Amino acid sequence: MKNEFSSSTFRWLACVLLATALIGCSKPPPAPPKAPPTPQEKSKNTISKAAFGTLPDGTAVDLFTMVNANGMEVRASNYGGIITALLVPDGTGKTTDVTLGLKTFDDYVKNPPYFGAIIGRYGNRIGKAQFKLDGQTYKLPKNDGPNTLHGGLKGFDKVVWQAEPFEKEDAVGVIFTYTSKDGEEGFPGNLQTRVTYTLTDQNELSFDYHATTDKPTVVNLTQHAYFNLAGDGNGDVLGHEFTIFANEYTPVNKLLIPTGKIESVTDTPFDFRNRVKLGDRVNVDNEQIKFGKGIDHNFVLKKRQQPGLTLAARVSEPTTRRVMEVHTTEPGMQFYSGNFLDDSLAAKSGKPYGKHSGFALETQHFPDSPNQPTFPSTVLRPGEEYNSKTVYSFSVR
Ligand code: GLA
Repeated sequence: MKNEFSSSTFRWLACVLLATALIGCSKPPPAPPKAPPTPQEKSKNTISKAAFGTLPDGTAVDLFTMVNANGMEVRASNYGGIITALLVPDGTGKTTDVTLGLKTFDDYVKNPPYFGAIIGRYGNRIGKAQFKLDGQTYKLPKNDGPNTLHGGLKGFDKVVWQAEPFEKEDAVGVIFTYTSKDGEEGFPGNLQTRVTYTLTDQNELSFDYHATTDKPTVVNLTQHAYFNLAGDGNGDVLGHEFTIFANEYTPVNKLLIPTGKIESVTDTPFDFRNRVKLGDRVNVDNEQIKFGKGIDHNFVLKKRQQPGLTLAARVSEPTTRRVMEVHTTEPGMQFYSGNFLDDSLAAKSGKPYGKHSGFALETQHFPDSPNQPTFPSTVLRPGEEYNSKTVYSFSVR
């Protein structure tokens, strides 16, 4: 009885083992590892051009669409170099427009708050709309109370640039050139300006700025794209998390002109050295925040001690897991938390842009440098070259 039981158990076990082996054998062999795509298989980056609109003087303006091999897309016009759309994948691979913009070309001409534009000849403010260079005083137009903001009444954001698209193996882009005449908006010297936009297959959008002059002048060029990494029209950016690689900032007076001091960010709302939500910093009781109606301040980047392209900021958006990093050769960065947006613009998504609907990280020299002898110089002389580079790179975390 005992033996019988053992042998039937043994037979049953043998059957189970045999069946398992057979099932195992009938499984298809594991697929061989997939070879990386050949250059031919990889989708190719492209650049195309279409009509964007016509200025009141009859000048036709174009819109360039750059798409990289991952499907990231940038649309930029030769009117002010304005970036009208920037489509970037989120943590699930879904691509959404993350830059603020307007509905039509005519809306852009009606003087919006510099959405997506190249800023020049002098980014940010020049106090009392004047500066002295080599003993001579230059008077500029006042377009921000008694001060000059972003190059004057008709800055580089409102001019038509020559545009030359280019394609490379792993990048596409447009070279924008513009000659700002001697005396234009009050600035001395014919300024030959070139700004190259490049979209790489590594999801980087870079801006290379170059200028030369035939008379001593001041130059401070930047890009004024506004971002909402949760997607354009998707509420405010107060939940975005910022890290800014700056130990100091330049405090301002109530008209947002720097006092001339360079102060530590320690124990101020401007300490972004460890990741912090924007909302935790714009609704605090602080005189500087009051002056800016939020953050509208120049950060003195740590890179002052390190030449070349270095990390200035990292921004992440928790719901979509998008991350944007800013690398720059510039010593400063104006962090503007969209404080003047007031629901009044023809937003492209149809949803109004309220306060803090977007943020801008404008890499640059410090505001009002032409009147601030202790700030890094923005003077450009004949024979010298102005060179500056900033890279916005996009990823997910
Ligand atoms: C910059 C300025 C701000 C504001 C915006 C555009 O960031 O510092 O004060 O002018 O541009 O509205």
